[in-house]
Amino acid sequence: MTALDLTAFASAGVFTPADDPDDVKAFYDRWGFVVLRDLVPAELIDRMEAECVAAQDGVLAGTLDVRHGSTKYLDDATKAERFVNYVEHAEELAPAIGEALATPVLVDLVARILGPDFWKGNNGVVYQDARPGRESGYTRIGWHADWQAVPHMDIWPGTAFTFHLDGTSPANGFLRVVPGSHLWATASPFENANNVAVPDGTPPARGYTDTPPPAPMPLGFEKIDGEYPVYVERGDVILHDAYLWHSAARATDDDTRRRHVRGAGTAATAASWTRRRAS
Ligand SMILES: [Fe+2]
Repeated sequence: MTALDLTAFASAGVFTPADDPDDVKAFYDRWGFVVLRDLVPAELIDRMEAECVAAQDGVLAGTLDVRHGSTKYLDDATKAERFVNYVEHAEELAPAIGEALATPVLVDLVARILGPDFWKGNNGVVYQDARPGRESGYTRIGWHADWQAVPHMDIWPGTAFTFHLDGTSPANGFLRVVPGSHLWATASPFENANNVAVPDGTPPARGYTDTPPPAPMPLGFEKIDGEYPVYVERGDVILHDAYLWHSAARATDDDTRRRHVRGAGTAATAASWTRRRAS
């Protein structure tokens, strides 16, 4: 009897610069995400980590402009006085981020996904430290799709990138996704856990097709049929679509760290982009 070969399962969605870009794009189009491995040199990730940690220290010490600090999405905003979960506009403080974003294979892939005029709707890059320890005010996030943060803006579709400074696991938390959910016409978040009013001009739904999801997006952390854990190694880059349903599982070990650098590009200025939104 031959041993079970689980490698195909373990590497689903993981690509390297040696892979055919058409295959990477095809996986992204079908499932809404890809993991890019061996894309960023280890030396550059080391530098990105050092620059981001220095920026985090600077925000806590109050030596940087206040606009680099943020208490957005914190479970407990009062903890921001003792610990910094986010550094906003991190690309201004960490030159390694711009260097990594300029990696030709990455630029080519995002151009294939969004068209040549991507990044124009960029809000800046965020360094995020989602460690689970008691000092931390941000440890997890419930189900959402990124477009729902600004559902009224006609800047979609888009794609988010994360450069992972720590590998992920159940111990330090990880990304949960619903593969293929970017194809659904997901309802705008008129119903949401925080009772936040949805801006005027928001369409009923957005997604790459008019097909509704099989069930509404849960408001919290519930299990979804077909959900998939995306585990990464240090240095991996995840690209996920702004229409993809995703959440972040809380770590089980308080003595761990989960840090990454994230941002997004949208097709805002790509007027010829042919993918449609549900309305
Ligand atoms: Fe997100």
